Amino acid sequence: MSSSSVAPQDPAAARGISRATQSAIYRAGISGTRPAVPIDIADLERAAAKALSAEAFAYIAGGAGAEHTMAANRAAFDRWQVWPRPLRDVSARDLGVDFLGKRRPTPLLLAPLGVMEMAHAEADLAVARAAASLGVPYTLSNQASFPMEEVADAAPGAPRLFQLYWSASDELNASLLARAEASGCEAIVVTLDTHLLGWRTRDLDLAYLPFTRGMGIAQYTSDPVFQKLVQERVAAPATGDGPAVKVTPKAVAAALTIARKGAPLTGAGLRESLRSPLPRAAVETFLDVFSTPALTWDDLARAREWSSLPIILKGIVHPDDAQRALDAGVDGVWISNHGGRQIDRSVPTLAVLPEIAERVDGTVPIVFDSGVRSGSDAAIALALGATVIALGRPYAYGLGIAGEAGAREVVRNVLAELDITLGLAGLTSVGELDREALRSV
Ligand code: GLV
Repeated sequence: MSSSSVAPQDPAAARGISRATQSAIYRAGISGTRPAVPIDIADLERAAAKALSAEAFAYIAGGAGAEHTMAANRAAFDRWQVWPRPLRDVSARDLGVDFLGKRRPTPLLLAPLGVMEMAHAEADLAVARAAASLGVPYTLSNQASFPMEEVADAAPGAPRLFQLYWSASDELNASLLARAEASGCEAIVVTLDTHLLGWRTRDLDLAYLPFTRGMGIAQYTSDPVFQKLVQERVAAPATGDGPAVKVTPKAVAAALTIARKGAPLTGAGLRESLRSPLPRAAVETFLDVFSTPALTWDDLARAREWSSLPIILKGIVHPDDAQRALDAGVDGVWISNHGGRQIDRSVPTLAVLPEIAERVDGTVPIVFDSGVRSGSDAAIALALGATVIALGRPYAYGLGIAGEAGAREVVRNVLAELDITLGLAGLTSVGELDREALRSV
C-alpha cells in the first residue's frame, strides 16, 4: 500500500472519501512523500507508459484508427460545465445510488478490461480486491487473465458483473453464463460492439495481439465446453491453422507463454504443455469462436435461456438501439463506444447520453462509459442521466504502476473528486445531480 491510502474495506468510507483522501496525501507530503500513482491524468498515463512494456501500454492506451473517437469522447465533456452553488450546508454528502436492486455506496463501476496481466501479474485478482475495498462493483472481463471463480475467491462476497462476448459457440456462451451465475455475478453484460476487432493502429504497428500469445483467455481455457472444443480441434485432421511461424527468439518466448497459459488444458507442467498441441489449439480455437458478427437482435433472447441474471446491453450509442433494447426487455443499457477502441470517428458517448436517457426515462439503469477520467466527468454524466459510471483505462494505469494499491488509489481519487464536486455544486447526494447542476457551452 502506498502511504496515501485511506480506510480500506469499509465501503461507507466513501462518504467522507474526499476529506480522508486529501488529508492522507497532504499529511504524507509533510514527510516528503508524494503519491506513487499520479493524480493528474496525463501524468498517470505517462507513469503507466513507463511502468509497462511498449506492447502492454499500446494495447491498453490505444484506440481505433487515428484515435479521433478517444479525443471526441473527451471533447464532449468540454460542452458542459458544473455550476458552483455555495451556502447550502453540504456538510453531509452521500455518493450512494440504487443499481440492480441494491443500494451501492458509490455510483462507480469498473468497466471490463481484458488481459490485465499485461499491466500486473495479479491482474483481475488485484483489481477485484481494489474494487471490493471501495464497495465498487467490478465487471469481470470475458478476456480476463484469471478464471472468474478465482476472481470471486480473491474478493469473496464483493459485487461483480460478468461481461459476455457472444461467442460463435452457443454451448460455450451457455457454459460461461452458468459459471458466472454460480460464482456469484449479479448481472450479465453482453458486449455488442466488438463483434469485429477494431482497427487498432498501435497494436497493428507493433504486430501484437495478446490473445495470440495465449494471454487474456483464462475464462476460456478454464471452461469445460471450450476444453472440449480444443480437444475436438486437435483430434480433427488438418486444422488449417495458418502458415508456420518463423522461429525467432520472440517466437520461442511466445511459445513458452502459450504453453504456460495452456497448462489448464493439459493438466500438466510446462515441459509437457510445451510438447502438447493443446495450448496452441486453444489460441486458435479462441480466435475462431471469440465473437460472432452474425449476431442479431433476435439472437439475444437466447441469453435468457442461459441465465436468470439481469441482462445489460453494452455498446449502445444510437437512441434507436436503446429503444430496441427496451423493447427486448433488457434490464440495463450500457452506453459505450468501447473507449474509442472500435470505430474511429465514432459518435462520442456523452453527446448521446441525454437523448438516450430521455428514451429510457428511468425504466432501466443506464451505465455510461468512454472518456471518463475524473470525478467531475462522472458528475457531468450522472447529471445528464447516467445511473452509474464505468471507469476503464485509469484503473489499469494504476494497476500497472502499483498493483492492487495503485488500482485502488485511482478509483478512490475519482470518488474523492466526485464527492468534492457534488459538495461545491451545493448538492448532498448523487440523486440531486441533474441538468440544473450544469451549464451547456
Ligand atoms: C477488448 O475488449 C479490447 O477492447 O481490446
